[in-house]
Amino acid sequence: MLVGGEGTRLRPLTLETPKPMVPIMNMPFLERTLRRLKEAGIEDVLLPAGYLPDAITSYFGDGSRLGLRLQYVIEESPLGTAGALKNIERLIDGPFFVLNGDVFTSLDLRAMLEFHRSKGGIGTLHLIRVDDPSPFGAVVHDEDGRIQTFVEKPPRDQAPTNEINAGTYLLEREVLDWIPAGRAVSIERETFPELIRSGERPLYAYTTDDYWIDLGNPEAYMSAHRHVFDGVMPLGLTPEIDGPGRETIPASAVRPPVFVGRNCRVAPDAVVGPYTVLGDDCTIATGAVIADSLLWDGVVVERDAQLSWAIVASRAHIGAGARIDHGAVIGHDAQIAPGAIVEENARVAAER
Ligand code: GTP
Repeated sequence: MLVGGEGTRLRPLTLETPKPMVPIMNMPFLERTLRRLKEAGIEDVLLPAGYLPDAITSYFGDGSRLGLRLQYVIEESPLGTAGALKNIERLIDGPFFVLNGDVFTSLDLRAMLEFHRSKGGIGTLHLIRVDDPSPFGAVVHDEDGRIQTFVEKPPRDQAPTNEINAGTYLLEREVLDWIPAGRAVSIERETFPELIRSGERPLYAYTTDDYWIDLGNPEAYMSAHRHVFDGVMPLGLTPEIDGPGRETIPASAVRPPVFVGRNCRVAPDAVVGPYTVLGDDCTIATGAVIADSLLWDGVVVERDAQLSWAIVASRAHIGAGARIDHGAVIGHDAQIAPGAIVEENARVAAER
């Protein structure tokens, strides 16, 4: 699992929380992925990390709580998506999955393994179809699945295909021989295209219709929650209200669907929802209205404040009567003054 990226597009959320630890329905995204690996029968997971690694290692430890063996390798400087693999070469002894740490998907890894074995290529790449491939890496393959070319971020009207690299690979150990040591290397921009050009054993495309989203930016992060609420990405939630604190929030405040963490205090005449998540220990005062928003742990929303389609990181404080507009992202410990207006798509970090 590649977990060393800085997550610049998710700032200020990632100034303190590395992207893999960003919560989906109050559970670090990485924990959800690790649980999925465990269910697929995987027991050993290597985590090349580097950006805020302590947040990851202190939460998961050796992985025994999840029934996994986790090993962390901390990079002194970022080695890129292929360099990170080269750096852990000594720990890899057979075919291995590579997962981008920001992909949220329902992909069946066992089925992908079967496909890989049946094809016998040097690697298999998971692809999905999207309406607009222009922000992604498009991947062209023949009828048998053999990959022919990679086109990084093609202009929408010139894209050769709508199938894109979905960030999960199953690779033979031999792939590591194609990665130069000691410098940053990108697997998608350097290693895979070079393998194709060499005409060596083929790389295969494994295209599925699974749920898939790249949690790289705030909009996608919001959408992922909406998809879970709507059951498009099945996480087994109770439809109207779920979460460990669902019994404690006053029914008068709830506009379904909502997900409620532990120990929240919500005024009966506040409005929480729809499509809203409260982390643990949040306080929502009288008259506050919170719709389409994600609040992390310990957020305080004072009386009559309004949040619409906002993301608020841990311990932020929203003053009385403040208004947080569509798409705004509020960082950890940020203080929004009473009556302030935080404009659409603004990013607010705490002053340190
Ligand atoms: P942005 O800065 O917002 O682009 O995010 P990012 O740094 O996470 O980059 P990107 O989304 O391209 O990364 C894809 C995946 O690879 C993520 O899971 C990253 O954590 C991981 N990753 C990217 N660069 C490195 C690296 O140098 N080392 C390691 N170990 N992982 C990396």
